[in-house]
Amino acid sequence: MPYIADAPVLSRREVGPGCFLVELEAPAVAQDAVPGQFVHVRVSTTLDPFLRRPLSIHRVDTRRGTISLLFQVVGRGTALLAGMRPGERLNILGPLGRGFTVLPPSRDLVLVAGGIGVAPLFFLAERLLGAGHRVTLLHGARTQAYLLLADEFATLPLTYLQATDDGSTGIRGTAVDAFAGLERRPDFVYAAGPMPMLAALAAAVRAVRLGAEFSLEERMGCGVGACMCCSFKSREGEGWAYRRVCVEGPVYPAEKVVWE
Ligand SMILES: Cc1cc2nc3c(=O)[nH]c(=O)nc-3n(C[C@H](O)[C@H](O)[C@H](O)COP(=O)(O)OP(=O)(O)OC[C@H]3O[C@@H](n4cnc5c(N)ncnc54)[C@H](O)[C@@H]3O)c2cc1C
Ligand code: FES
Repeated sequence: MPYIADAPVLSRREVGPGCFLVELEAPAVAQDAVPGQFVHVRVSTTLDPFLRRPLSIHRVDTRRGTISLLFQVVGRGTALLAGMRPGERLNILGPLGRGFTVLPPSRDLVLVAGGIGVAPLFFLAERLLGAGHRVTLLHGARTQAYLLLADEFATLPLTYLQATDDGSTGIRGTAVDAFAGLERRPDFVYAAGPMPMLAALAAAVRAVRLGAEFSLEERMGCGVGACMCCSFKSREGEGWAYRRVCVEGPVYPAEKVVWE
């Protein structure tokens, strides 16, 4: 069930160039959230900007009743968010959308993150590890500085492989290149990142006949299924139909998305 809360900001830390980790006190959201869900954030106390901004739930601490958001400043809304200070309150609506499916245990699972797409995968990795899976995280970014929270991912009991466009660390190339270079075929793939990266990964996953769930990104308006501005094309029967990232997604089976 989604909640609306004026969540106190507990901490705010710059974790990469223009990238911030913010922890909020939001016990009800922390209790109900599943990995892959998002909160719709009011970035200002005025009506400008009018629309909320969607951000994935990066991690939850149910004991302390907190959630964390990891975001990159790309425009006005995220710049306003980056200016929040501990003690201020952030109005959030969530948890929203459909999250990742946690499969039965003892599987080899691969998580693929492109850039800030790593945001929802920390929470997912924790839940998958807790359920007894073997997890490999392929984390790609343009350069080392954007491999956000690499130290914290490295503390999890998973295999952590990095890729950078400029070769500053890990393999030179993208997270999709890292996926293509895997020596062992996983049982299932989860991914989040920019849509062109997800389209390329969908082709790679399809080529080796693997099941996959991707967290999709479209611009959002209402966040609750009313405005249709987050629509994408989903294969249905012999044809396709529009689905909404905010309700039927953001996590969606990769093979059903019409990538164009
Ligand atoms: C379900 C979901 C979860 C998300 N989770 C995160 C997250 O955890 N961390 C994070 O940093 N970002 C996340 N995003 C993207 C984030 O919502 C946008 O970056 C943010 O809304 C931009 O707001 P702005 O006012 O700063 O930028 P704007 O001024 O609105 O736009 C600046 C630029 O960003 C582009 N942009 C804006 N929104 C999106 C979008 N939804 N997808 C792709 N490009 C966009 C615009 O086209 C424009 O070029 C998520 C998006 C979705 C749909
Ligand atoms: S944002 Fe309005 S329907 Fe998805």
